[in-house]
Amino acid sequence: MIHKSVLLKETMEFLQPKPGGIYLDLTFGGGGHSKEILKLSNPDGIVVAFDQDAQAIIEASKLKETYEDRLKIIKENFSKCYNRLLDMGFIAFDGIIMDVGVSSFQLDDAQRGFSFLKDGPLDMRMDKNNPLSAKIIVNQWGRYELENIIRSFGQERFAKKIALKIEEKRNKASIETTLELATIIKEATPAYFYKKIHPATKTFQALRIVVNSELDNLKEGLIGAIKLLKVNARLVVISFHSLEDKIVKDTFRNFSQQKIVSILTKKPIIPSVNETLKNPRARSAKLRSIEKIGGSI
Ligand SMILES: C[S@@+](CC[C@H](N)C(=O)[O-])C[C@H]1O[C@@H](n2cnc3c(N)ncnc32)[C@H](O)[C@@H]1O
Repeated sequence: MIHKSVLLKETMEFLQPKPGGIYLDLTFGGGGHSKEILKLSNPDGIVVAFDQDAQAIIEASKLKETYEDRLKIIKENFSKCYNRLLDMGFIAFDGIIMDVGVSSFQLDDAQRGFSFLKDGPLDMRMDKNNPLSAKIIVNQWGRYELENIIRSFGQERFAKKIALKIEEKRNKASIETTLELATIIKEATPAYFYKKIHPATKTFQALRIVVNSELDNLKEGLIGAIKLLKVNARLVVISFHSLEDKIVKDTFRNFSQQKIVSILTKKPIIPSVNETLKNPRARSAKLRSIEKIGGSI
């Protein structure tokens, strides 16, 4: 499936890309936001694109055939964006986008192990060089640790039951695949409770967050991004669950209190009904934006 960029129009309304501008896309993914910035900043706007996923970097390289030197690609975790960009001589940007979460190409490829609907290895790494995988957590971490991460990062009320069931199963044989795990979770949770979402949704979210250190990376990436904004330039962040949105909101409030940024979205912008109908994956998205007003961090 092609990745449909979420809140694309709204993002461009905040960023207002212009010719001659230099923009940073910290989550290239399928490249939808980058492409739109390149189009709107024709003929000479520049996009520097980050992604930690090798597949995204392959997609980005294809786009280079069209945009050549207007697109620079960096395979790196965005938590390291500030130092990495400074080393490369990029000091400040006219606009920055972070669209955190998983790409369609990651979710749709069963071999990546993100989906509880398709059978694949329990992996969930965005960056294949990451030594931690979902399989290691599920089979090797202690039962209480498992319960704790499922509760904290999945906000799952049946965390204890799920952790116990995982322990019971893995004592007999190692849990190898996404569908095996999804079945175990289903067995541990009462059917009446899950009419709207699949019972494995929250546990899979928790594992993905831990495997990819998503919340810590987001905190560091946000600080890097704010440092890299020119005065009067804007940062747009799109997130997909409440733990991420809280980090974005708190970070923006903190920098706003220090008079470094001004908050442009008192409440987060959410996708229209029309967008959600066309792209159900957009339904939990929240967009927040700030403008740099001065100060140094
Ligand atoms: C939701 S997708 C972005 C989609 C993109 N905006 C588009 O329009 O196609 C998120 C992307 O961010 C990448 N990503 C997530 N966390 C990251 C991190 N800490 N550092 C670098 N890339 C990250 C993922 O690998 C994924 O490709």
